Amino acid sequence: MGILRLSHVDISAPDLELAAAYYTQVLGLDIVERTEERLFFKCWDERDHHCLSIRYDPRVGIDRFSFKAEFEDDLDQFETAVERYGFGVRRVSKGEEVGQGESIRFETPSGHEMEVVHDIEKVGGRLPLLNPWPVPQGLIGIAPPRIDHVLIHAEEVNEMTHFMQACFDFHLTEQILTGEGHMMGAFLQRSGRPHDIAIIQGANGALHHFSFWLDDWDHVRRAADILAYNAISIDIGPTRHGITRGNTIYFFDPMGTRNEVFTGGYRADPDFPVITWTEDNLGRAIFYYEGRDNGRFLTVHT
Ligand SMILES: [Fe+2]
Repeated sequence: MGILRLSHVDISAPDLELAAAYYTQVLGLDIVERTEERLFFKCWDERDHHCLSIRYDPRVGIDRFSFKAEFEDDLDQFETAVERYGFGVRRVSKGEEVGQGESIRFETPSGHEMEVVHDIEKVGGRLPLLNPWPVPQGLIGIAPPRIDHVLIHAEEVNEMTHFMQACFDFHLTEQILTGEGHMMGAFLQRSGRPHDIAIIQGANGALHHFSFWLDDWDHVRRAADILAYNAISIDIGPTRHGITRGNTIYFFDPMGTRNEVFTGGYRADPDFPVITWTEDNLGRAIFYYEGRDNGRFLTVHT
């Protein structure tokens, strides 16, 4: 029972036509549904309704991030846990949100709106479930098979980490500690991968990036080719993280939201021990090859 994985991220952007062009032609997602003021996207190997929605707003930002629970009953337990923690919970009823049934929404200690949902419309992937081939034909752009994780900012990383552990049983895989032992970064998982959500010290309510999975290191190199060809602003990479050991490239969508595609990393079993990075090793923790921040990574967010 409990949280299965990151379900979707809901962001806002000032140009939906540009967003549609970039997220379909460069990133290579499919548009599942379109309303007057929102776009819904999914990756080719995802079967749930969407992994990303973009709402028209003059301002770029994050509306919420949403995790999928395994069972309908999980929502009741999570509602109780969040209320006991001291945060109000709103029930979203079936039909209120596009592509999904009942969910719970609440504010987190990091000042974000978080959602937990179980009932999501199944729209199917691009591959059949009977005798499938390994990859669909006719993919455009980077075309990741699925969304992987989200990284948010929090003024008090420790507080947000505790909330995710206490209410949703997330496991801490890695942490960054200052010389005084203050937590400035936390990486948390439910899915057995290095992280489903990460929290880095910064402005409450801010989004650092969301990230899509690629199957191969060579696909990260290919992503760099596609991004450069399309004149997309690359933040950093291809490179490798010390934290998670993942191979990565970061870039900005044309409206300014940071995206990542990445691969690799270890398997985080339930008995996986917590890895600690000290602040004096922060450069290698973030970008293992470069050994330091690029002057943007720790300061630019939406
Ligand atoms: Fe990431």
